Amino acid sequence: MIDRERLHALRQDEEELFARLHPRSAALAERARGSLLAGVPMPWMTRWPGSFPVFVEKATGARFTDVDGIEYVDLCLGDTGAMTGHALPEVADVIAERARTGITTMLPSPDAAWVGEELTRRFGLPRWQLAMTATDANRFALRFARHLTGRPKICVMDWCYHGTVDETLAVLDGDAVVPRPGALGPQVDVATTTAVVPFNDVEALERALATGEIAAVLMEPALTNIGIVLPEPGYLDAVRELTRRYDALLVIDETHTLCAGPGGCTRAWDLEPDMVVVGKPIGGGIPAAAYGLSLALAERLEGPMLGHDIDVAGVGGTLTGNALALAAVRATLSVALRDEDFAIAVPLAERFTEGVSQVIASAGLPWHVQRLGCRAEYWFSPPPRTGAEAAAAVDEQLDGFLHLWSFNRGILLAPFHNMALFSPHHQESDVDRHTEVFAEAVSALLG
Ligand SMILES: Cc1ncc(COP(=O)(O)O)c(C=O)c1O
Repeated sequence: MIDRERLHALRQDEEELFARLHPRSAALAERARGSLLAGVPMPWMTRWPGSFPVFVEKATGARFTDVDGIEYVDLCLGDTGAMTGHALPEVADVIAERARTGITTMLPSPDAAWVGEELTRRFGLPRWQLAMTATDANRFALRFARHLTGRPKICVMDWCYHGTVDETLAVLDGDAVVPRPGALGPQVDVATTTAVVPFNDVEALERALATGEIAAVLMEPALTNIGIVLPEPGYLDAVRELTRRYDALLVIDETHTLCAGPGGCTRAWDLEPDMVVVGKPIGGGIPAAAYGLSLALAERLEGPMLGHDIDVAGVGGTLTGNALALAAVRATLSVALRDEDFAIAVPLAERFTEGVSQVIASAGLPWHVQRLGCRAEYWFSPPPRTGAEAAAAVDEQLDGFLHLWSFNRGILLAPFHNMALFSPHHQESDVDRHTEVFAEAVSALLG
């Protein structure tokens, strides 16, 4: 239904507008290319719309301002890292105080117990450890799982994303497990470390578990990284029952699905994982992540955790659990990501879903909008059931155009697919502005 020549011409116009709007960013990008690989400090920063990255001067609440003085409504929120809203004053005060009173000593600070107790209260798991990033937390969880079960492999969902964890950068090609397209320099053949099964496919999971090789199933309770793919009724119960039956651990990664509520889907849907991983927003922007364990697992790990060789066990890190991170997590969880915050953010995501659905319906497009808590996303196909179906529906040209069109009109979507995340700092007028901009884009596309 989309005329590709028209799309191409519209994209050209938007590229020119983008360059005209951002002369200072253009100059900074040119300079950065002289010293930084790919001109950016982290490779994904090249994924944004426009021919160079926009440099950000400051970000507060649900908005940021670039170096050319343009203000944006931020619907990306640091791809969940700033789901709380940017620069929360309470967190900023604590960070400043901690910076003055010592950041890292490799000893616990008084905030440690509060953080463990709060994570238990939210997610239900009784024992916790900190990590710097969700990637690290996943890596540690998988090590524990292999150690405890003595089994070599982990099982993930096709088209999952759990960070830069080697074993998880795998997809299915027919029945074969192969490196995810784009994964650079796989450490070993991923088929030796990983089984991959389609999301929502109970039989495939049982076949993988029945090999007796699987130490853990690591999964998001709803896929969020290939668009939102929701679990079908009964699927997560079946996953729990099968993992128990075949003695594999169930590790639920709530890094993104924390959008479902203060205790993620684990709490919202009464899941009973053996381990839970949380990351990204819990430190209010300061790098921090955590993983929780059931009491049964914690008791079995007590020996190695207290052993002399724990420093070379492949878990933890010198700056992990530092006083700054703990203070930031405590301050963040005290004032953000609470029931009352979701009570504001979720209705905004619902309003987004309704507005975008109406535009799609009145244009007669076969597109859909999906939502999980305060995260919503539109997609150029009917709702997928698996990651592979979602991946097959990716339309990079349309994605790129809609991102750039929105950005040129003051709205930042996440650079991956068409995701919008809402915080208590957004307003209904922000949502309505997006709907208006989206409607204009659709009319421009349909001519
Ligand atoms: C579900 C999930 N887990 C883990 C990660 C890794 O997070 P980080 O890059 O902060 O390590 C991501 C990143 O997008 C994610 O979406």
